[in-house]
Amino acid sequence: MDEISLRNKTILVTGGQGFLGSHVVVLLQKESPKAIISPSSKEYDLRSQTVCEELMKKVKPDIVIHLAANVGGIGYNREFPGLLFYDNLTMGVHVMHEAWKAKVKKFVAIGTICAYPKFTPVPFKEAYLWNGYPEETNAPYGLAKKMLLVQSQAYRTQYGFNSIFLLPVNLYGPGDNFDNKSSHVIPALIKKFVTAKEKKESKVTVWGTGAPTREFLYVEDGALAIVLATKRYNKPEPVNLGSSFELSIHELAHQIGDVVGFQGTIEFDVTKPDGQPRRKLDVSRADEEFDFKSSTSFEVGLKRTVEWYKKEFRIQNLKRHDIL
Ligand SMILES: NC(=O)c1ccc[n+]([C@@H]2O[C@H](COP(=O)([O-])OP(=O)(O)OC[C@H]3O[C@@H](n4cnc5c(N)ncnc54)[C@H](OP(=O)(O)O)[C@@H]3O)[C@@H](O)[C@H]2O)c1
Repeated sequence: MDEISLRNKTILVTGGQGFLGSHVVVLLQKESPKAIISPSSKEYDLRSQTVCEELMKKVKPDIVIHLAANVGGIGYNREFPGLLFYDNLTMGVHVMHEAWKAKVKKFVAIGTICAYPKFTPVPFKEAYLWNGYPEETNAPYGLAKKMLLVQSQAYRTQYGFNSIFLLPVNLYGPGDNFDNKSSHVIPALIKKFVTAKEKKESKVTVWGTGAPTREFLYVEDGALAIVLATKRYNKPEPVNLGSSFELSIHELAHQIGDVVGFQGTIEFDVTKPDGQPRRKLDVSRADEEFDFKSSTSFEVGLKRTVEWYKKEFRIQNLKRHDIL
């Protein structure tokens, strides 16, 4: 396995201050790069081609890891399909095109499992990506991000541009987004259960039937996979990043309730949408190509996330309110 050294490289991490990005940056720092640049959207709004061009000219990166995206859970996807399509498509197209123009040596594009067809046979293999339309609520986001794969392969074919495309499954862990409007299922449930316990409520209501299954990858494992692929993977084929672990939303809710110590009842609101029926990845390609296997058990990852929410998240929030 040929390996690119990150030592003395200038690495641009778009979205590097976000949930996944901040964990990627921590790992990259251990590789002794020359510089890691991760601007916020206020500094550089990457939906603009001119802004992307300016950023590449200023930073002159050797490597770009493109994590910036507009993302959210099922409610957010339902409310803002147009915005999610536009933001993610324009960001991807411009960032990659300007990186190619700036002669970047390696480009790492991050896709999403939401790009898979709604009824993909389990476990999802990368070869099934084009076998159908994604689940409707995810489609604008998932397809916009899937164009990064098409662009990546087209630029490799025509220009020899070394761009790779990785598909992480649902991530969770310390630093996750706990915003009521845009959070994903794990932080949304943790917040609900912690609040219910503190307010001594007897019932928690969970969206949907509880039947759909999901796979979750601990964010530090996801960040490690991205760093390993940046160093070791240089092929056009997409690669799944997951933990190969599937559990239903029903089991998830009960597990979170147990970790939080909630003793009331859990109800499922069947009037709310379920999203994709099943999600579980075939993760063999990541193992074969760049020796990645997730190592954090769900029990350990979940406990760390709940602890982080109860301590760090609240401290950060208090500080934010003090400043305001
Ligand atoms: N979280 C998951 O479960 C999951 C699963 C699969 C794939 N992914 C992918 O992983 C990546 C990171 O997701 P995340 O969960 O870490 O999201 P996140 O915490 O919301 O971070 C998103 C980042 O993108 C930046 N960004 C958004 N709009 C931008 C714009 N117009 N210009 C420049 N930067 C912009 C944000 O910067 P500001 O905060 O400064 O606006 C932020 O740093 C995304 O590509 C996502 O599709 C995530």
